[in-house]
Amino acid sequence: MNKQKPVTGGLNPASGRHYMFASRMAKTPRSFIREILKVTANPEIISFAGGLPNPALIDVDGIRKAAAAVLEQEGRNVLQYSTTEGYLPLRQYIADRYKKRLGLSVSPDEILITNGSQQCLDLIGKIFIDAGDHVSIERPGYLGAIQAFSLYEPVFHPVVLHEDGPDPGVLGQVVDTWPVRLFYGVPNSQNPSGITYTVKRRREIASVLKKTDTLFIEDDAYGELNFGGESLPSMREFLPDQTIITGSFSKILAPGMRLGWVVAPAGIMESIIVAKQASDLHSNYLSQRIAYEYLTRQDIDEHIRKIRTAYKNQCDCMIQAMAETFPESVTYTRPQGGMFIWISLPVGCSSMDVFENALEKNVAVLPGSPFYIDGSGTNTLRLNFSNSTDEKIITGIGRLAKVIKSLCVSSPGRSISNRT
Ligand SMILES: Cc1ncc(COP(=O)(O)O)c(C=O)c1O
Repeated sequence: MNKQKPVTGGLNPASGRHYMFASRMAKTPRSFIREILKVTANPEIISFAGGLPNPALIDVDGIRKAAAAVLEQEGRNVLQYSTTEGYLPLRQYIADRYKKRLGLSVSPDEILITNGSQQCLDLIGKIFIDAGDHVSIERPGYLGAIQAFSLYEPVFHPVVLHEDGPDPGVLGQVVDTWPVRLFYGVPNSQNPSGITYTVKRRREIASVLKKTDTLFIEDDAYGELNFGGESLPSMREFLPDQTIITGSFSKILAPGMRLGWVVAPAGIMESIIVAKQASDLHSNYLSQRIAYEYLTRQDIDEHIRKIRTAYKNQCDCMIQAMAETFPESVTYTRPQGGMFIWISLPVGCSSMDVFENALEKNVAVLPGSPFYIDGSGTNTLRLNFSNSTDEKIITGIGRLAKVIKSLCVSSPGRSISNRT
């Protein structure tokens, strides 16, 4: 046994063999969400815990036709190895869409296609973070980013997220105190909170970062899912050579296609290409070709409008059910888009207890603590509305309200503590 290394490893229970892992594995949290999803596989359970897009809004027929067309027309070609950067017409399509939606000039050379936008976070971690480097992230922050960056062993600095975006004063203090490599944020319909930064706040954050070498990692997984259809400016508009955008087809086409992209200025893109080559050579070429065929055959704007309308209705239904049944001491966000609502229970009320008790009533919710790198947020919950019918939302929220009342309100109408 190597005595120099901390004992991090796996055990084969059958043979008793112990496998030594790199120490970085000890610093990377397991995805609590994936663990919970195992529990919620039971069809009796009404689950607000996951983060799945509404399966009824995946255009299976359209994707089937696109797949048949590319396989018929170019079967051998689309099943070959391809370029690391990704299919050029697809990158051009993405660039054109930035121009159309946001008036943003992006060259296809600044775009690389990835295996979902989650892979962008791994590639960014790989090329920017050495062990002990400083990384700043919203508080609460997206668990997938905490997990992806943790593998590279940074020191995290949380920046509290308010209803209008991250606190610029706190961010200012962090970047004044530490040489922060990256600030990671989700300006549109954030996961987990559902919060969208105001334009004013985007400008303020940009002006804090402009004076530094810190890069803004703008995760835009939900930018197309703003219920009202309006598109807010990208951070790249304010920090052109300091912003890396990550984008995703998961919420507008299908997550199983595993297609996302990264937009990075020249000077960074070269290193992303090297990291991508070392990881997997290139993203699934067949998927890229099917996506391109689909996007150019179908009215994608109409498809996205349908998704927005459905999610707005599901969100409204959940908010109304909560307004009717939750005690007044419970507060929650009112998202402008995306797939999640963020709940704050009265201080001192444990969301883990609520989770366990709700599960006994066949309702799954997601305790918020894993979204806090400092272990706080023990009175918070994330609820997903995109993957439930109105009927399930009303029934599930009704049951959850009873659990919250029994655990968090000491006597009818009186909360155990102040609001958060
Ligand atoms: C904020 C955010 N970023 C990235 C991802 C990863 O998405 P994908 O890899 O499917 O593009 C998700 C998935 O839910 C997310 O919520």
